[in-house]
Amino acid sequence: MTQPPTRRRVLAAGAGVAMAPVVASCADPSADPHFNQVDPPGPGRQVGMAADVPVGGCQVFARYGTVVSQPEEGEFRAFNAECSHKGCFVGSSDQGHIPCRCHGSMFDLATGERLAGPAKEPLAPVEIVVEDGRIITA
Ligand code: FES
Repeated sequence: MTQPPTRRRVLAAGAGVAMAPVVASCADPSADPHFNQVDPPGPGRQVGMAADVPVGGCQVFARYGTVVSQPEEGEFRAFNAECSHKGCFVGSSDQGHIPCRCHGSMFDLATGERLAGPAKEPLAPVEIVVEDGRIITA
């Protein structure tokens, strides 16, 4: 036979529910061991969706340290997102090049070659295939 909840039990249960979101919102994200962690894009890993990559632009998939470009519709290229100048991540863009906002280098969407700025080397290519709209490392 179960006892009806006492007023004290009801208040204690309510306090637990109300406190949970407060504790979660105060958590320090840098304490999470997975925060800002880059998973190297090993073979067969899905790094993102092709639909997220603009034609004539690029999209950074930071978790995998990869930038994927689409210089022509349906033509995809991928590069290591670390700028060859000082290692900042390049940015996403729909402006016809891959930008690095740290010091202004720009890279070609199709080849990763340096177009402008202080970088001397191109972006390192990453082999990919696109299957069913998914971008997968080869
Ligand atoms: S790190 Fe990219 S331009 Fe300097």
